[in-house]
Amino acid sequence: MARSTKVRARLLLALGVVLSMLLFALPSAASASYGSVDWTLRSSWVTYITTNWAGPGTPGPGTITAISPGRYTRPVVHVEQPSPIVGTLASYDGGFRSQLPAHYIDVSIDDIRINFTSGAVFATGSYVPLGGSATSYSDQQIATLSGGTQDGGSRQLLWFDAVPRLTAFGATIFNGGSNGSYRTGDAFGTLTAVGGW
Ligand code: HEM
Repeated sequence: MARSTKVRARLLLALGVVLSMLLFALPSAASASYGSVDWTLRSSWVTYITTNWAGPGTPGPGTITAISPGRYTRPVVHVEQPSPIVGTLASYDGGFRSQLPAHYIDVSIDDIRINFTSGAVFATGSYVPLGGSATSYSDQQIATLSGGTQDGGSRQLLWFDAVPRLTAFGATIFNGGSNGSYRTGDAFGTLTAVGGW
């Protein structure tokens, strides 16, 4: 091989190496999202959980945290829809967890699913029944959306400012007995949902 050809070949090889390194270094394309939910949590719940009921000098107040890949920016939980809507049922990835150890509270609401026709809100997670131990639940209806404004485009269903009202099961997971609890039909904040395909 002539010297100049050898140099060119080495240069091309080096360029190839640099290019492949760059490709690996680049962040992968964001995974597809067909829609999302922004759930503004009931403000009295957020205040209750984050108050230091155990008093000064005792373990700190409770926390509300996102369940990955959801995000939580007080008081809003944000989750994305990774797969297309099936009929009018959209599935979202992630949720939120409320913990107040001083009151034995640990409620997780994850893998939220919304039926845009019936307003049913399903979730999977766990809670601690009064005087009991952590109990899991799977794809149970925790609330029904009411009010707000519904709209539908060719690619998405929209529901703005809906009020999620707790079902009997939804109220059960927030049951603190005579200490404090919610009833069936109680509002748990407001929610805006987009479901796409
Ligand atoms: C040691 C046990 C507990 C104590 C001493 C306790 C105490 C209290 C108190 C004092 C309030 C009133 C807060 C206020 O009005 O600002 C309250 C509210 C409440 N508690 Fe508890 N609690 C306990 C356990 C629980 C448990 C296990 C749950 C189940 C999730 C629960 C759920 C609630 C709810 C939903 C409220 C109403 C919050 C709101 O104002 O929206 N509590 N609790």
